[in-house]
Amino acid sequence: MTTNGWSLQARDLTRVYRRGSEEIQALDGVSLSIKKGEFVSFVGSSGSGKTTLINLLGCLDNPSSGELELAGKTVFGKGKRLGEKELTQVRREVFGYIFQNFYLIPTLTVQENVALPLAFFRKPGGEEEVERLLKMLGMEHRMNHLPGQISGGEMQRVAIARALVNSPEILLADEPTGNLDTKRAGEIGEVLTELNRSSGLTIVMVTHNPELAQLAGRRIEMRDGRAFENQEGVTT
Ligand SMILES: Nc1ncnc2c1ncn2[C@@H]1O[C@H](COP(=O)(O)OP(=O)(O)OP(=O)(O)O)[C@@H](O)[C@H]1O
Ligand SMILES: [Mg+2]
Repeated sequence: MTTNGWSLQARDLTRVYRRGSEEIQALDGVSLSIKKGEFVSFVGSSGSGKTTLINLLGCLDNPSSGELELAGKTVFGKGKRLGEKELTQVRREVFGYIFQNFYLIPTLTVQENVALPLAFFRKPGGEEEVERLLKMLGMEHRMNHLPGQISGGEMQRVAIARALVNSPEILLADEPTGNLDTKRAGEIGEVLTELNRSSGLTIVMVTHNPELAQLAGRRIEMRDGRAFENQEGVTT
């Protein structure tokens, strides 16, 4: 998919979770547009729909209604949905994901964890790239350690390296500094800011950390499944 000058456009997205007879309206009509090179932060209280929204934007989940467009192409909506094959391609080529709990594989070393997407997508010659990223993140001296042998902040940096190894256009980060102290969180913030500034990486980040949210050029607040920007409802 050609994504030059793309934007990611959500229109009236809703997501209802069903558990037995119970229905939870996690998203209640979110419309927003994210452009290439932006650094956007989503803030809001627990349960306000941040993870739900970021998963939808990252094409990892299907909305209950509404539309999502990437680079002018409909991912969901208008009665259409991108095919499984194309969805897989978008997930692998356009997005890099940092999940709320990092999901490092405990039996693989730092180096192997970062290389995992390369192996998974059968990309050869990624060894240098893995080393380059780990070096950039100040983790080259921990390459052969297991996740259980490094600190929380270091695990977070490994998760960032892994999310970047496929050279994504958009980095989706769900609480990239969750559970970290101020100093470590600040370090992650510096890395993300630098990536956005120097390589124009688009970053969409969920955070509870006000200092981290401050680093992003744009701040969107989630409240009860709705998105607010500058006190107004977010529009396209
Ligand atoms: N798989 C699911 N099944 C049912 N309900 C869910 C599911 N996932 C999330 N929810 C509910 O949807 C709402 C939004 O959840 P979401 O995970 O998006 O919140 P969040 O803003 O990311 O919260 P946190 O800051 O705690 O991570 C919550 O009420 C949550 O309990
Ligand atoms: Mg969440």
